Amino acid sequence: LALPAALIVTAYLLGSVSSAIIVCRLMGLPDPRTEGSGNPGATNVLRIGGDKGKRAAAITLLGDSLKGLLPMLAAHLLGVGPESLAAAGLAAFLGHLYPVFFGFRGGKGVATALGVQFGLYWPVGLCVAGIWLFVAKGLKISSLSALISMALAPFIVWFFRPQPELIGMQLIITGILFWRHRSNIRKLLDGSEDSIGGQSGPAG
Ligand code: G3P
Repeated sequence: LALPAALIVTAYLLGSVSSAIIVCRLMGLPDPRTEGSGNPGATNVLRIGGDKGKRAAAITLLGDSLKGLLPMLAAHLLGVGPESLAAAGLAAFLGHLYPVFFGFRGGKGVATALGVQFGLYWPVGLCVAGIWLFVAKGLKISSLSALISMALAPFIVWFFRPQPELIGMQLIITGILFWRHRSNIRKLLDGSEDSIGGQSGPAG
C-alpha cells in the first residue's frame, strides 16, 4: 500500500506546481490569475503574453502536460494496478486544479488531463489532442475544443483501455473539467467567448 500512496502524493504535489504562474513570473509577464480570463493556463498565458505569448504558452502547455504524464509513466514503471494508475492520474489533475502551493486556486486542467491521457496509453492522448486541434483549427476557441475533446475522452479510454477504474478516472476528470469551465460555457452560450489569442472579458 505504501508505494501507491507515495505515488499518489507525489502526483498531487507535482500537479500543484503551476506552470503558468511560474513561467509568467520568470518571463516578466503579468500574473495570469489577475489578467485576461484569470485562469493560470496556457490559453490565458497566450492571451496576456503579448509578443512573448506564444513561447510562454508553449512552455506552460508542456509543463502542465508533463505534470500529468510523468506520474503515469512512473506508475507504469512501478507496475501498479489500474486503481493506483487511475488514482495517480486523478491526483495530478486535482493538484493542478487545487494546488497546495498556490492557495488551492489553480487552473482548469486541460493540459494536465492531456498529459494523463498520453501517459495512460499514448494513442488515447493522441486521439484527444487530435480532436482538440481539429476543433481549435476550425472554431478557434480553446475552451470549446477542450469541452468537446474531453467529452469524447471517456469513450476513447473505453475503446483503448476498457478497464472500469480507468474509464471512471476519465469520467471524473471530464466531469470536474466541465464544472471548472462553467464560466466558459456561459460565455459560449451567450456568444461572448473569445477566440484563441484574442482578448477576454471579465475574469472567469
Ligand atoms: O484550458 C483552459 C481553456 O480551456 C480555457 O481557458 O483562459 O479561455 O478560460 P480560458
